[in-house]
Amino acid sequence: SDKIIIAIDGYSSSGKSTMARKLAKTIGYRYIDSGAMYRAVTLYAMRHGIIRPDGSVDAESLVDSLPSINIDFRVDDNGQQTMLNGEIVENEIRTLEVSNHVSPVAAIPAVRHSLVRMQREMGHTKGIVMDGRDIGTVVFPDAEMKVFCNATPERRAERRFKELTAKGTSVTYEDVLANVMERDHIDMTREESPLRCAEDAVALDNSAMSIDEQNDWLLNLYNSIT
Ligand code: C5P
Repeated sequence: SDKIIIAIDGYSSSGKSTMARKLAKTIGYRYIDSGAMYRAVTLYAMRHGIIRPDGSVDAESLVDSLPSINIDFRVDDNGQQTMLNGEIVENEIRTLEVSNHVSPVAAIPAVRHSLVRMQREMGHTKGIVMDGRDIGTVVFPDAEMKVFCNATPERRAERRFKELTAKGTSVTYEDVLANVMERDHIDMTREESPLRCAEDAVALDNSAMSIDEQNDWLLNLYNSIT
C-alpha cells in the first residue's frame, strides 16, 4: 500500500520516541526524533556561549548562527545517531543540562522555522514516523496518522529518571520531575506553535501501559488506517 506520514506528538517523556521508533522498525519506515534536532541546536548554543550564565538565550546570536548549524542523522550499529556539524552528539544531547535549556531555545520562532523546513524535507517521500510537539499541528498537518501521547507527570518523570540513571547519569527524581513540568509549561505556553493535540489526532494516555502494550496499540492503529 502507499506510504504515509505518521505524526506522534505529546508531552515530555510520554513514551513517544520508544513507541515511534519501534513502529518505524516494524513497518520499515524512517524514524525521525525531532526533539533531538532542538536538543542539538541547544548543545551548539551551550558550546558557543549563546546561553547566558543566567540561563537566558541570546536569541539574536543564535539566529545569526543558524546557517552554521547542520543537523543530520546517521544509522549505525548503535542505532540512530544525531549528528551536529558532522560530530555524533547522541549522548551529549540527552543530559539534564541540555533538557534544562532546550525549551527556551525551541520557543524562538526562527529556530522553529529552520528546523520545520528540514523536517518537511525529510518527510517529502513519506514513509516516515516523526515524533515531537508540533508534528501533527504544524510540520505535517496533513499526516494520515496522528497520535497525541500523555501520562501523569510522575509516571513520565519516573521513566525519564530510570533512563538517565541507567546511563550512569547522577540525577535526582525531583530534578527530573521539575524539568519535565517546566518543559511542559514552556512548550504549552509559547507563542510559536505551542504544544497541543491536533483536532484529528488519536489521544493516548499511557500511564498504566507497558511498553509492549503501547507498541501493540500503535501497530493496531496503523493497521486500522492503512
Ligand atoms: O522530545 P524531547 O523531549 O527530546 O524534546 C526536547 C524539547 O524540544 C521539548 O521539550 C520541546 O521544547 C522541544 N521540541 C519542540 N518541538 C518538537 C520537538 C521538541 O519544541 N517538535
